[in-house]
Amino acid sequence: MSDLDRNIKTATLILEEGGVIGFPTETVYGLAARIDIPTAIEKIFTTKERPFFDPLIVHVHSIEQAQKLTSYWGTTAETLARNFWPGPLTLILPRSSYVNPMITSGLDSVGIRMPAHPVALEILRKTNVPLAAPSANKFGKTSPTRAQHVVDEFKNQVFVVDGGDCQVGIESTVLLVKEKAEQTDLAILRKGHVLQADLEKALKKEGINFNFVQVTDKKESPGHMKHHYMPPIPFILCRSQKKDLGQILTEVNEKINLLPDEIESIKIVKPKTGIRSAEVLKLSDDPVLASREFYNSLRESAQQGKDCIVFYQTDRHDDIRWEPLFDRLSKAASIVVD
Ligand code: TXA
Ligand code: MG
Repeated sequence: MSDLDRNIKTATLILEEGGVIGFPTETVYGLAARIDIPTAIEKIFTTKERPFFDPLIVHVHSIEQAQKLTSYWGTTAETLARNFWPGPLTLILPRSSYVNPMITSGLDSVGIRMPAHPVALEILRKTNVPLAAPSANKFGKTSPTRAQHVVDEFKNQVFVVDGGDCQVGIESTVLLVKEKAEQTDLAILRKGHVLQADLEKALKKEGINFNFVQVTDKKESPGHMKHHYMPPIPFILCRSQKKDLGQILTEVNEKINLLPDEIESIKIVKPKTGIRSAEVLKLSDDPVLASREFYNSLRESAQQGKDCIVFYQTDRHDDIRWEPLFDRLSKAASIVVD
């Protein structure tokens, strides 16, 4: 038996006993528990220090398993699942009574996803019960894309199965699906690797009548925070290409005292002596590669002993394929310099 097989076995035993584990998916590492053990679900929230109002995604290994989680599996869900699963797309569908309301924070809907990582799929098959799993980071903090990130985040308190570096690197696209007789309303609640254009293409091919809408009701997207994914030191997103680092730091020092100490329960670090040095975050020119590198590079940049991290946004980031990554970059930023 290989080390990996042994770890997968240990993980399924911990899950069976009502524990939580760290496991790899193609997007980010997840903090998983079985959905049929309420105390295990509770453990996800307490371990992650996540508020109970933010619902969890449920992971499955098959479409049959997904169907049991929802009270309505129509042709839109079927088409999307057949085209994009296993993969980085979470479908928000009407919840069935099989799903504990603690998982969905009392909502009538449930988020379902089939991950594309072989280790995740094997754990799901061996367990044969769907697994609820948010990203394996403390609430509001940088998401993990390596097993070591999870080990560090929970200070060795969580058993982690190492499945290597996550290949997508940012969280799944979250899509609200409201299927009605004549038309399906769709809303992207979180941007990800699967783009609106990809979804449109698959649905059109199947002849499905759909419409993309904006969700304005906070109840339908309770996890939508202004800030998220934040590193422990200030992260500055610079949208101007004309400013040098000195000018940026002057502006940052002017702005930093205006920031509250805490936004949406996430602490903002403000060095008392002012910000004097910066680590420039560099990412690949390709959006797919840049997304893969992002969270790890952000963590490494925070460990260089500098006062802050700066990322330069340029014209080459204008393409629509950069949008999912810029959603994370903007939320991780404590200050934006225009
Ligand atoms: O790629 C991913 O989705 C990763 C991996 C581990 O699968 N998971 C992940 O989970 O990012 P989490 O909990 O960090 O983010 C899930 C997002 C949250 O913003 C949550 O509010 C939203 O999905 N969500 C979950 N269920 C929902 C529901 N029923 N209605 C609306 N939003 C929902
Ligand atoms: Mg998360």
